[in-house]
Amino acid sequence: MNENSEKIKIEQIRIERLTDKHNLKDFNSYELDLVEFLLEDALDNQSKKMSVTYVWLLKETDAIVGYITLLNDKINLEGNLKDIFRNKGILYKSLPAIKIGRLAVDDRFLRKGIGTLMIAFATNIAEKIFNTYAGCRFITLDAKRNKDRSKDVIHFYKKLGFQILKERSKGSTPMYLDLS
Ligand SMILES: CC(C)(COP(=O)(O)OP(=O)(O)OC[C@H]1O[C@@H](n2cnc3c(N)ncnc32)[C@H](O)[C@@H]1OP(=O)(O)O)[C@@H](O)C(=O)NCCC(=O)NCCS
Repeated sequence: MNENSEKIKIEQIRIERLTDKHNLKDFNSYELDLVEFLLEDALDNQSKKMSVTYVWLLKETDAIVGYITLLNDKINLEGNLKDIFRNKGILYKSLPAIKIGRLAVDDRFLRKGIGTLMIAFATNIAEKIFNTYAGCRFITLDAKRNKDRSKDVIHFYKKLGFQILKERSKGSTPMYLDLS
C-alpha cells in the first residue's frame, strides 16, 4: 500500500488518553503481547504513573486503530556515542529522553501511515516537553525483532530516522532518534 490516497490522515483520527471507558476488546495485532498489554496492563501502569497510553480512534467508526504508550527515559552515553557527544561539547554520562514503551497498529489498519503519524505524535510531545517544561533530547524504544522480514519493524523505524543504540543478537534492539 504505497498510494497516498489509501493512507489515513490525522484529521480522521481522534487521540484519547486511555480510560476504563474505552472498549478495547476488538483491538487485534499479530503481536499478541501488545494486545495483552493494552487489555491487561496499560491502565494499571498508568494508574501507577509508570506510563501514559494514548488510544487512536477512527472518528468515523470509533474503532481503535492503534495505541502508543509513553514514559520518561534516559540514554547512557557509551562507546562511540560518548565520543560523538563529547565532540559536540556534551560531557554528561546520560541524556534525557522520552520512550515509546509500546506501539501497535491494529492488523486491519497496517501500512496506512498510522504508525508514522504516531511517531510524529511522540516527536511533538517530546518537543513540547522541551519547549515548555524540561530537557528532552531523544526518543528511545526497543524495536521488537521478527524473523519474518515483513514483520521486522526495525525497517519501519530506520525509515523514520531512528538509529541503533545497541546491537543485540536476539530479542529487541534498542534504538534512538536524536531530536536536535
Ligand atoms: C510497526 C507498526 C506500528 C507500523 O505501523 P504502520 O501503520 O503499518 O506503518 P506505516 O504505514 O506508517 O509505515 C510506513 C512505512 O514504514 C515501512 N514499514 C512499515 N511496517 C513495516 C514492516 N513491518 N517492515 C518493513 N517496513 C515497514 C514501510 O516502508 C511503510 O511505508 P509503505 O507502506 O508506504 O511502504 C505496525 O507494523 C505494528 O503495529 N506492528 C505490530 C506491533 C509492533 O511490532 N510494534 C512495534 C513494537 S517495537
